[in-house]
Amino acid sequence: MSLSLSSKAPCLQNHQPLRNSNPRTSFCFHFINQLQVSLPPYRFHVPCAKSSSFIKYGRERLDPIAASPAAAQAAEIAPAPFRSKNPKDINILVVGSTGYIGKFVVNELVKRGFNVIAVARERSGIRGKKSKEETLNEFKGANVCFSDVTSMDVFANSVENLGNPIDVVVSCLASRSGGVKDSWRIDYEATKNSLMVGRNYGASHFVLLSAICVQKPLLEFQRAKLKLEAELMEEAAKDVGFTYSIVRPTAFFKSLGGQVDLVKEGKPYVMFGDGKLCACKPISEPDLASFIADCVLSEDKINQVLPIGGPGKALTPLEQGEMLFRLLRKEPKFFKVPIEVMDFAIGVLDFLVKIFPSMEDAAEFGKIGRYYAAESMLLLDPETGEYTADKTPSYGKDTLEEFFERVIREGMAGQELGEQTIF
Ligand SMILES: NC(=O)c1ccc[n+]([C@@H]2O[C@H](COP(=O)([O-])OP(=O)(O)OC[C@H]3O[C@@H](n4cnc5c(N)ncnc54)[C@H](OP(=O)(O)O)[C@@H]3O)[C@@H](O)[C@H]2O)c1
Repeated sequence: MSLSLSSKAPCLQNHQPLRNSNPRTSFCFHFINQLQVSLPPYRFHVPCAKSSSFIKYGRERLDPIAASPAAAQAAEIAPAPFRSKNPKDINILVVGSTGYIGKFVVNELVKRGFNVIAVARERSGIRGKKSKEETLNEFKGANVCFSDVTSMDVFANSVENLGNPIDVVVSCLASRSGGVKDSWRIDYEATKNSLMVGRNYGASHFVLLSAICVQKPLLEFQRAKLKLEAELMEEAAKDVGFTYSIVRPTAFFKSLGGQVDLVKEGKPYVMFGDGKLCACKPISEPDLASFIADCVLSEDKINQVLPIGGPGKALTPLEQGEMLFRLLRKEPKFFKVPIEVMDFAIGVLDFLVKIFPSMEDAAEFGKIGRYYAAESMLLLDPETGEYTADKTPSYGKDTLEEFFERVIREGMAGQELGEQTIF
């Protein structure tokens, strides 16, 4: 049976407007599109959060903490009491539970026997398509807490109403729009709310889904994620009883499947430059969810930044295209777009944004498209400054080839890109 818990205050008024429905931004979207062409209810066996002395972080702790990534290295790691408990007695709060990765994480944690509390909006999913009932059905075996992570008060109230302390917070939150302000609001502020509320209610470990691309931060969402990463490290440095695992995955399958249907219809595979500008080791949702679930108890993942890719060798867009044509038994046909086209588009958007500040998201989306067209999703070797496939760790068993075969057979259902149709 699933338990549905609502915060007292309604909290679903904050859906972002669909940015790509704005005609001023549509150029960018179209441009990029062309190219991509039940567990039992709560167990009250531990002290109630309201009265417990574990509430050691007051409001004054909510101010941003100065970031210092190196600080974590100096910290000693204290054994967290939750690690010796039976999984069913470990309470894990999952925020961003309704996302592409988050929903697999919830179900993987449930499968491993943890007591999972999935935090969700009453209307969730891309463009709020999913109802409360659908979310409850999807998360059978987990407890669902409907709340608003963007409001500290509402969220704290919801967690207080659970009446149970939290052991671990897992965050799969991400801006759905990818816009500048929304990235800071979700990838930083809402995730920080989850850290602070989790800490107030006893959490001693935080697992963050980040991204490998933050190694070279040129985009706002990357800067927002990095700030949060740094604050996690700072928190661990201040309190040896608190630990984190920062997961930085390479590309997701959904980001690479956008051309399958087009190629199937006989269109060419579109790529930038010679198709070798970038490479990645794509990872499936179940494999990544399993890696994230490992981070709850694995001691070798404590206070670690963990870049992670899928199995097999790194693949360039050219190799991905060749694979697709081979699977479709078609003669390879490529359309090569000079990367300078993107640079020109970004230049135009950057100019326009000076006149029309409201176009900042359109300009940002152009930069995101350019970034993914040319930057590898691989470990950036600090010694050489080069991306290295060999040093990018692999995990899991699902391959891109199997994914392409499935999409050829069944289409992209469940693999829809976000609101901005870029990632
Ligand atoms: N795409 C890639 O190839 C790739 C590669 C590496 C890393 N990553 C990183 O992986 C992370 C997760 O990606 P994903 O694709 O799983 O994300 P996603 O599907 O867009 O899910 C985002 C989650 O955050 C929640 N959220 C967004 N805005 C919210 C708001 N205003 N209030 C409350 N909740 C909100 C969503 O809730 P709703 O369902 O209610 O909207 C959803 O649960 C991102 O940080 C991304 O940068 C992506």
